Amino acid sequence: MTARFITFEGIDGAGKSTHIAAVTERLRRAGATVVSTREPGGTPLAERLRELVLHASMDTLTECLLVFAARRDHLQQVIEPALARGDTVLCDRFTDATFAYQGGGGGADVQRLAQLEAWVQSTRDGVRQPDLTIWFDLPPAVAAQRRAQARAADRFEQHDLEYFERVRAAYAARASDAPQRFVRVDAALDRDGVWKQIDAALRARGW
Ligand code: TYD
Repeated sequence: MTARFITFEGIDGAGKSTHIAAVTERLRRAGATVVSTREPGGTPLAERLRELVLHASMDTLTECLLVFAARRDHLQQVIEPALARGDTVLCDRFTDATFAYQGGGGGADVQRLAQLEAWVQSTRDGVRQPDLTIWFDLPPAVAAQRRAQARAADRFEQHDLEYFERVRAAYAARASDAPQRFVRVDAALDRDGVWKQIDAALRARGW
């Protein structure tokens, strides 16, 4: 089985969770061993860092350093070993979220983020990147309506529409920098409409 690293991105309220579960199911049925994980988090240490990043007050550079510290532990403990075994890794958010939230939303310097990315994600064969990133894109106003019906907001979810416009624009910039890796999904459609786009992206890769 060929190792695959698939990440899921988008502003809060885009509806990633149900579709990650569906992709897990679909790939397992096709015979893959699937490791489903998330960022920040995915290891005991990284989950502790997640708690801090989501709920403690701090400046943007501190956030960047903590999410990359969590990412390093996650890569070392979970992602790289799974890929080395030939597993499929599905990750709910990864480094594109840092460029989107800390970079676009928080104004962190993109060059610095790129340096951290290259440093933290370095492997013997180069810089680890997802094989496929499914980007759930939708207007921030629609996402805000969906969030209002859901759960209590974390620090990032409390921001205004203008902040989420910047997050969205930063995702768009990452997507245009890596068009072969990114698939943009129109997440304003209903669940079935979103799933059809994801299914098509997997099929296009023979998955
Ligand atoms: P999220 O996937 O929305 O978790 P949940 O569905 O449980 O609310 O992720 C939590 C938040 O973390 C989200 O608002 C984006 C933020 N985040 C960053 O700010 N930087 C990062 O690098 C990552 C991975 C996430």
